[in-house]
Amino acid sequence: MIPFGDPTASYKFHKQEINEAITRVLESDWYILGNEVKSFENEFASFHADNLHAIGVANGTDGIALSLQSLGLGIGDEIITTAHTAVATVAGIEQAGCTPVFADIEPIFRCIDPKAIESKIGPRTKAIMPVHIYGQPCEMIKILEIARVNDLNIVEDCSQAHGAEIEGKKVGTFGKLSVFSCYPTKNLGGIGDGGIILAKSKKDAELIKSLRQYGWNKKRESLITGTNSRLDEIQAAILRIKLKHLSHDNLKRRKIAEKYNQAFRGLPMGLPRMKKNELHAMHLYVIECENRDSLMDFLKENRIGTSLHYPLPVHQHLAYANRIRGLDDLNKTESFYKKNLTLPLYPELSPNSVEKVIECVTKWFQNKK
Ligand SMILES: Cc1ncc(COP(=O)(O)O)c(C=O)c1O
Repeated sequence: MIPFGDPTASYKFHKQEINEAITRVLESDWYILGNEVKSFENEFASFHADNLHAIGVANGTDGIALSLQSLGLGIGDEIITTAHTAVATVAGIEQAGCTPVFADIEPIFRCIDPKAIESKIGPRTKAIMPVHIYGQPCEMIKILEIARVNDLNIVEDCSQAHGAEIEGKKVGTFGKLSVFSCYPTKNLGGIGDGGIILAKSKKDAELIKSLRQYGWNKKRESLITGTNSRLDEIQAAILRIKLKHLSHDNLKRRKIAEKYNQAFRGLPMGLPRMKKNELHAMHLYVIECENRDSLMDFLKENRIGTSLHYPLPVHQHLAYANRIRGLDDLNKTESFYKKNLTLPLYPELSPNSVEKVIECVTKWFQNKK
């Protein structure tokens, strides 16, 4: 079976380094928030730009909640985001006590549409949370301008776009704060839960560091109300190794995507696009195709795994149905979800497997005629 994603393949590829790192942590006398976390935070910050600060947290959802809390946002404050995302984005917004508001996507690149953001700004809007979905950077230049004119914060959700760039500038360096999940399937993934936040100001970073650990100061006195959302040493040690390989792994992802795109160019389906002035992180390779359930079944019969990212847009999940502002204006999001299908793509995917996917997808279209 060719799986649509394969975190174990990444472990096997870096096995020796990872095993050594785990042993190093096991034999150290510090398992939580020690040197590995500090080093990962420093390395992750400098990977993105000079003068940034990084804060390791327990997962990306907490990262979103803590970021918003650190900006003083909570009950009654609206955050404009997209329904075309992992439920986690919205769960994190609500965990902070804030109110999500949905803006529609731009259908070619599938990210939040800056024009739709503008149309949703109201008196309670406090921040914009663009999600670089599937590794495709959002239109950050336009979003920055909207935020400037309307005096809004930007918190980027970069959970699917580690290492993506716009004009040579990494995503995660546009917003005041940026959040990355390090869940095992991500481009930068651990062997358990993990997340990391980037902050432009040291003051914000110090506040988040305190919030992630009961609101403590250095003497372990709780000065504010916080929580427990710490990154552990084993995850940090593994993420340090994965970070060294991230740019090369992303390159491998893009090469596979280019191969797919070339092979599928003549077929009647929507393909991921890559802009010339950007580096797509190609977290997921998602096509749009009529009768996608039939294609999915055909690929399964041929031992090719696929998935849906996602089965439903967030506003159609029962937990969020009929209660979020903007849900009646998401036509482009909804039509995308009738056709989306995720094909196998990860750095270790073999050339033979890529060929097999191409062959089977092409065959399904030929049989349809
Ligand atoms: C877009 C997006 N935002 C946030 C998250 C939250 O991450 P986590 O699962 O680490 O809480 C994820 C991961 O699933 C994600 O894909």
